[in-house]
Amino acid sequence: MKKIGLGTAAIGRPQYINIKKKKSEKFDLLKFKERGYHILDVAYNQGIRYFDTAPGYGIAEQIMIEWLKTKKDKSINVATKWGYSYVANFDPKAVIHEIKDHSLPNLVKQWKKSIELFPFLTTYQIHSATLGTGVLDNEKLLNKLGELKQQYQIKIGITTSGNNQVEVLKKAIDISVNNTQIFETFQVTYNMLDQSLDLVANDIIKEGKRIIIKEALANGRVFRNKNYSSYNDLYNLLEILAKKYNVGVDAIALRFCIDTINPFMVLSGASEEFQVLENLKAHQIVLEQEDIILLKSFKTDPNAYWNERKRLNWN
Ligand SMILES: NC(=O)c1ccc[n+]([C@@H]2O[C@H](COP(=O)([O-])OP(=O)(O)OC[C@H]3O[C@@H](n4cnc5c(N)ncnc54)[C@H](OP(=O)(O)O)[C@@H]3O)[C@@H](O)[C@H]2O)c1
Repeated sequence: MKKIGLGTAAIGRPQYINIKKKKSEKFDLLKFKERGYHILDVAYNQGIRYFDTAPGYGIAEQIMIEWLKTKKDKSINVATKWGYSYVANFDPKAVIHEIKDHSLPNLVKQWKKSIELFPFLTTYQIHSATLGTGVLDNEKLLNKLGELKQQYQIKIGITTSGNNQVEVLKKAIDISVNNTQIFETFQVTYNMLDQSLDLVANDIIKEGKRIIIKEALANGRVFRNKNYSSYNDLYNLLEILAKKYNVGVDAIALRFCIDTINPFMVLSGASEEFQVLENLKAHQIVLEQEDIILLKSFKTDPNAYWNERKRLNWN
């Protein structure tokens, strides 16, 4: 199976955490949706069969539901989440884009929509599980997830963000419902700058559970940017490797994830056709060990990484 899946955050809402300033043009919902379907078509035609969505990604989940109505291919694998709602109404000036709610009533409410993703829905995840919301200690809620797992034969997972991802992952791995570990998929931020997943990746994989990597391009921070001159040495190395392997910097960064973690999937956050095509070039190469060692040397402290991530704007 292809290791690269498509994340749909960028096709569901016009603004997303990003280091680029985008041109502000009048928002046209119809055109935006058409572009979303087109990206899904491009990804599918290129062999992508894993799609990640969420109610928090604007109209992404709705676009997926409509697009899937045109598909009969049983190899399509869809993952969605619950826990965030999109509230910006496509307003470029919106201050609040999403609201987090890890309560049982919200799980029940969001499930009623996500169920429309069947028969392609295989994975249901808590969106950004944290210790703070108590979602991993809420017995009634965990039991409900256990029920959904049994009744619909889906995998239950969590996604994590933040400087304590490892702590959250370690806690989640051990949670059982009816004497069975409830979580089987773990969507985690991992890239050259935040390699903290390294500490638990083997434990997750050896138990037969799935790692799905997100933010492999560090929200665009792997591309040369004059505002991030502290990464100049990394930019230089990435550009040398891109030349050596005859692909783009993005393919090197995505391949780094595949070759160092052996995840179930790495998500591409592509928002344009050319980005899908460029990202997928990661399938054509395998990094040499000496190059992996060089790339690994750019790891930063997770606190510094996530402080910088918090300062990124929605563009
Ligand atoms: N669970 C969670 O909490 C969570 C959080 C974040 C993401 N995710 C999932 O992970 C997916 C991917 O994450 P992400 O969006 O953060 O991804 P990412 O892959 O780290 O970064 C995406 C960025 O890379 C840029 N890009 C990609 N290919 C490019 C190319 N060839 N040339 C130039 N720029 C390129 C995009 O550009 P543009 O600016 O031009 O679009 C965007 O800025 C999401 O869609 C979502 O499904 C989940």
